[in-house]
Amino acid sequence: MSQPINTNITNLKPSATLVINERSNDLVAAGKKVYKLGFGQSPFPVPQVVVDALKDNAHQKDYLPVRGLYALREAVANYHQRKFGLDTSAEDVLIGPGSKELLFLTQMIYQGELLLPQPSWVSYEPQAHLANKGHHWLTTKVENGYMLDGATLDNYCNHQVDVPRILILNYPSNPAGSSLSIAQLQELATVARKHKILILSDEIYGDVDHKGQHESIAKYYPEGTIVRSGLSKWCGAGGWRLGTFVFPKELRWLLDKMAVVASETFTTTSAPIQYAAVKAYEGGLEIEEYLKHSRIILQRVAQASAEILGQHKIDTPKPKGGFYLMPDFNYYKATLQAKNITNSIQLSESLLEETGVALLPLNAFGMPDDFLGVRLSYVDFDGTKALQMIKENPNATAEELAPKVMEGIRLIGEWVTR
Ligand SMILES: Cc1ncc(COP(=O)(O)O)c(C=O)c1O
Repeated sequence: MSQPINTNITNLKPSATLVINERSNDLVAAGKKVYKLGFGQSPFPVPQVVVDALKDNAHQKDYLPVRGLYALREAVANYHQRKFGLDTSAEDVLIGPGSKELLFLTQMIYQGELLLPQPSWVSYEPQAHLANKGHHWLTTKVENGYMLDGATLDNYCNHQVDVPRILILNYPSNPAGSSLSIAQLQELATVARKHKILILSDEIYGDVDHKGQHESIAKYYPEGTIVRSGLSKWCGAGGWRLGTFVFPKELRWLLDKMAVVASETFTTTSAPIQYAAVKAYEGGLEIEEYLKHSRIILQRVAQASAEILGQHKIDTPKPKGGFYLMPDFNYYKATLQAKNITNSIQLSESLLEETGVALLPLNAFGMPDDFLGVRLSYVDFDGTKALQMIKENPNATAEELAPKVMEGIRLIGEWVTR
C-alpha cells in the first residue's frame, strides 16, 4: 500500500538522543554493563516541596486557560525578575507542555530564516524542517567554547539585509557545556538589534550554571528576545512536561498567535503539574539549597571528567553549566582512521561496542560528519544519593558522587590510548 506522507516528514529520523537511550537499554537487557553518558536528563529528584504540591493538587481536573494558570504565569514572571533582573509580568508568559512544543509553535508561526550556531541542540533543525522553514548554520570557534560570536552573526546578516530571521541561542550550551559572558551577550545583542533579529534564547540550563551566575540576553536586548525555560532541567522534572516562554511587550502579537494555535492543538498544560509548578517557581530556602548542591555536584563531576579527558589529549571546552561536555578526538585522527573510524557516528558506535560507554555523535548537533567528537552527558549517577552526600560532606569527590561516570570517562581514555 502507498504511504502518503507529508514530504516535510519523509526524511525525518527519530531524535538521536532517544535512539541512543533505546540502544543502551537493549545492551543492558542483553546483560552488558552500559555507561549511559548519552541521554541528557537531570540526575536529581524533583524537590520534595514541589512533589508535595503535586500530591496536594492531584484532584485538579479542570481545563486551565490556554496561556497557563494565571498564578503560575505570575510566579514565572517573578522568577525571571528575581533571578535574572528581567522587567516582565504575567501577561508576558506562555506556559506549554514542555518548551519543545512552544518552540515548534514559534517556528511554525514566525516567518523567517532560522539561524543556528554550530553546534546546537538536536531538535531545532528537525523542527525547522517540519515547519517548512529554511535554516542556516553559523560557525563557531573552539576558542569561544563553540559559542556564537557577534562578528560571525553580523557578517552573515550583512550579505542580505532586511530579511526576517530568528536566532536560537542556547547557553549554558547543549552540547558544548560552555556559556556566554556578559561581554559576549552584549556584543550579540548589538548585532541582533542592528539586524532586527528575533532571538529565541534557550536558557533551560540557566539555573544550573555551575556558579549560579547565569545572565539573560533579554537584559541587553529586551525588545527582541524571547526567553525559553521550564522545569525539565533545574527542577529535575523533564517527564512532567512543563515549559515556559517569556515574551517582550513588543512581541505580544506573537504570544497571542501562539495561544491561538495552542488552543487548536494541545489546548492547555496538565492542571496538577501547573499548580505544582507554582511552588517550584515561587522558590524558597529548600529549593535554593537544592540548586546550590546540584550546581556543586555538577561542577565537580564536570571538572574531574574534563581533566581526565584532557590528560588523554581529548580536548573539551571548559564546562560552565548544564550537564554536558563536548570531547574532541581529532588528536587521534590518524589512529582512528586506521580503525576505519572517520566520522562521529562510527566513533560513538565503536565506543559503545568496545567500552560500553554510550555517547551521542556530534553530527546530530549540526557538526560536520568528519568532526571526530561526541556529546558526553555526565549524569549517570544517583542524584538523590549525591545530594545527601554533598550535604553531609561538602568535600565529597567526583569519584564518590558519580562513580559510574568517572569509570566511563577512564574507559574512554584507555580506549583511545590503547
Ligand atoms: C537545549 C535544550 N532545550 C530544551 C530542552 C527540552 O526542553 P523541554 O523539556 O522543556 O521540552 C532540552 C532537553 O534536552 C535541551 O537540551
